[in-house]
Amino acid sequence: MSDNVRPESLKRITTPELAKAFIDEQIAAVKAQVGENGKVLLALSGGVDSSVCAALISKAIGSRLICVHVNHGLLRKGEPEQVCKVFGEQFESQLIYVDAVDRFLDALAGVADPEAKRKIIGKIFIDVFAEEAKKLDGIEFLGQGTIYPDILESGPVKSHHNVGGLPEELNFRLVEPVKFLYKDEVRVVGKALGLPDNMVFRQPFPGPGLGVRCVGAITRDRLEALREADAIVRDELDKLDPLPWQYFAVVPDIKSTGIKDGQRYMGWPVVIRAITTVDAVTAKSVEIPWDMLCRIRDRIVENVPGVNRVLWEISDKPTSTIEWE
Ligand code: XMP
Repeated sequence: MSDNVRPESLKRITTPELAKAFIDEQIAAVKAQVGENGKVLLALSGGVDSSVCAALISKAIGSRLICVHVNHGLLRKGEPEQVCKVFGEQFESQLIYVDAVDRFLDALAGVADPEAKRKIIGKIFIDVFAEEAKKLDGIEFLGQGTIYPDILESGPVKSHHNVGGLPEELNFRLVEPVKFLYKDEVRVVGKALGLPDNMVFRQPFPGPGLGVRCVGAITRDRLEALREADAIVRDELDKLDPLPWQYFAVVPDIKSTGIKDGQRYMGWPVVIRAITTVDAVTAKSVEIPWDMLCRIRDRIVENVPGVNRVLWEISDKPTSTIEWE
């Protein structure tokens, strides 16, 4: 049987009890694979998959797991802080926090083409991670939060920008404790490991992060406006039941006329986007109650510098993609 086919003996993990049994099995498996002294390096984005993977490996080998969290400046409000808090305090693993914000934003300055932006973000991410790896001695293993759909859809190695394509000279052996799980199972396991709900039930977030929602050439002021507006949009839409699959803010690179204190001024629009989907191949726009929209509008225009308009996007996929870039 191939190493990449889910074993028939693995039952669907739907309850805390099943999760606990899975965790115990994987702790034993990681210990057996890594040995008494082996060390594991892991790129920790703060997403569900890498967080659950890190928590599991950490339960198995404690401080012999070294997590690297690269802050590329395109994370959502509060995310780097939460990763540092959870993995710095709750688990025994070591955490290396790399502030690479200037490096990413300097490289992105003036770049408007979406694919060029993605390439830059992906490349610098790998460079930064490889530099950190080279500073550390005697690491043989790489922990990866590969999940089963990644294997089914795109081959064995997670190919998105979070972790993809590490240089071969690093020559790691992979430790992938959740590679046979579906997303809902990863969440059940994450809960059983004691990860906070807002990490376990986090909506999907693209590897290039806010970079593809700060449309066009990213500037620091517009990126900050996006981060603040996005936090407000999420804070309000978190109250919807059921929750949309993805909900976020977008700030296009345009300015239009606004008025404040009797003076005209030019400001950015914030676009609110909320969609529901099964597989992200097609998506439907989600209805947002009018009073909630008005509250979001008021909070954004009162609190986010540079923004003078708030728009609600109602397009479906197709014709529009979920992200703007
Ligand atoms: P689109 O915009 O193509 O998005 O309708 C479909 C899903 O994929 C996510 N997405 C990405 N995820 N790196 C990622 O890791 C990317 O470059 C990327 N682009 C889009 C998007 O958020 C949605 O869930």
